[in-house]
Amino acid sequence: MRRRLVAGNWKMNKTHLQSEEFAEQLKEKIQNPEHEVLVCPPFTSLHAVKKVLKDSHILVGAQNMYFEEHGPFTGEVSPLMIKEMECTHVILGHSERRSHFNETNEKVNKKVLAAIQNDLFAIVCVGETLTEREHNKAREVVEVQIKECLHEVSPEHMTSIIIAYEPLWAIGTGKNATPQQAQEMHAHIRGVLTNLYTGEVARNIRILYGGSVKPDNAASLFAEQDIDGVLVGGASLEVDSFVDIVNA
Ligand code: PGA
Repeated sequence: MRRRLVAGNWKMNKTHLQSEEFAEQLKEKIQNPEHEVLVCPPFTSLHAVKKVLKDSHILVGAQNMYFEEHGPFTGEVSPLMIKEMECTHVILGHSERRSHFNETNEKVNKKVLAAIQNDLFAIVCVGETLTEREHNKAREVVEVQIKECLHEVSPEHMTSIIIAYEPLWAIGTGKNATPQQAQEMHAHIRGVLTNLYTGEVARNIRILYGGSVKPDNAASLFAEQDIDGVLVGGASLEVDSFVDIVNA
């Protein structure tokens, strides 16, 4: 059975002091969650947040990383550094990384392989633009992203992969995909994974939906059979809205 995951992507928000205080509040309000809960603060907050959430039911992950373990890569953060902070997950290939920092599927793939090497769960983000959807290209675009981002990932290592379907037109716009649109794409992704791997791999992998998830639409998304959780941006920045989504 796939356990649902509610993941908060804080993006470039909250200083380490703000993060620490926020984590204290989350810890108090999220005691025995039915779903798996993960927060992904900025790098500068990871240590502080992990310290607060150490004995809680809330997991901590990073929003990005580089694929090399160390070396002359000014400004980058390595899988080893994330791992040593006892982070369990890393978000890779978020559309903001792709659009503002030129991340290609090829680069995302290198990061995915590095995450696996370092026993980190990789949350691999895929999703189409509005133009691609309007031109009936959404399924194809997502298929290519999946294939290229998972290049050379063995079937055994697919247990370290979580897919996040985040249509670009839904991110930060307040306009979420309908549960039906998301379900349709998630089923398509499972089909792609069945062809690439096996039916078992496709059945076992968790596929999250992301893009304007709010307390009032979370339950209807969770109700779809192929939606195994959500990746939440804006609504993860307020304690009450994040907790409401966790409880949805
Ligand atoms: P949003 O962001 O919930 O603010 O739309 C989601 C994401 O980018 O992961």
